[in-house]
Amino acid sequence: MKIIQNGKIDLQILKNCIAKPKIYEKSTAKFWDDEYISQQMLKYHLDPDIEAASKTREAIEAETSFIVKWTDMDDKKAVVDLGCGPGLYVKEFAKTGAKITGIDYSDRSINYANEFVKAVYENTNFLLMNYLNLNYSQTFDIATLIFYDFCVLNPTEQKHLLAKIHTALKDNGLFIFDVLSDQRKTLVTTKMSICEGGFWNSEPYIEIYNTFWYENVKTEGMQYTIIAEDGATRIIRLYHRMFGLAEIINLLSENHFKIEKVYKNLKGEPLSDDSETFGIFARKV
Ligand SMILES: C[S@@+](CC[C@H](N)C(=O)[O-])C[C@H]1O[C@@H](n2cnc3c(N)ncnc32)[C@H](O)[C@@H]1O
Repeated sequence: MKIIQNGKIDLQILKNCIAKPKIYEKSTAKFWDDEYISQQMLKYHLDPDIEAASKTREAIEAETSFIVKWTDMDDKKAVVDLGCGPGLYVKEFAKTGAKITGIDYSDRSINYANEFVKAVYENTNFLLMNYLNLNYSQTFDIATLIFYDFCVLNPTEQKHLLAKIHTALKDNGLFIFDVLSDQRKTLVTTKMSICEGGFWNSEPYIEIYNTFWYENVKTEGMQYTIIAEDGATRIIRLYHRMFGLAEIINLLSENHFKIEKVYKNLKGEPLSDDSETFGIFARKV
């Protein structure tokens, strides 16, 4: 899409670009698996101090240590980490001797994981695939999906993924994941910045970032409109469904999981009424 038409900025196209999209309206360009963006994303994954593509290294260590203890993870267990990125969680889980499969659809992340995690831990295995196409049966003791990735899926995808995970888990298997709670406040905003080159493009671009709130489904929408110097325009849209505790418990129960324990996060901090996230341990029933 180009917002410059016949040498002029087409203001109507620009207006349409930054208008509130219909919920779950798709991006016009790739995000996680884009050649350039995935390179920037990998830098963020690997920065131990920034919570952006992954949580901070301190949080990852606290979460993996809590999950390992909670599940008695050892060399008899098989684990699948969905949306594993470059394998930061897989690497920590692998230290228990468990057989860990990491799944991600970012080529760059999977290549990194193969080179730097699998090369050291032979009990790991990485697959380049969309986890919505997960196709295992009675294979894993534990499935993880970490950094609120469940919230990014639309309701149909959420149910679809729960069914896939249910089939992939052995009887009584555990699904461990985190979600954003409806206590989190979304600020509806618009910001514009002009970059000489950065996260979205190595060449100069304008970024217009706007956020939206969809009250009836408690979902925040984030929209990035990226305009290159020649007017070529991409729109990247992300959504986060925020859950009430009862809602996520019901959704799991409707999809044949029972909650074993809910914490404030996957570090195991206790839940409180104002928790902005939930760390959930659910069992296949
Ligand atoms: C926010 S990052 C979190 C990565 C990792 N869980 C962590 O915390 O370090 C989300 C990851 O999920 C991957 N991802 C998103 N949707 C996916 C899908 N449908 N199938 C496979 N991977 C997916 C992205 O490529 C990205 O690596």
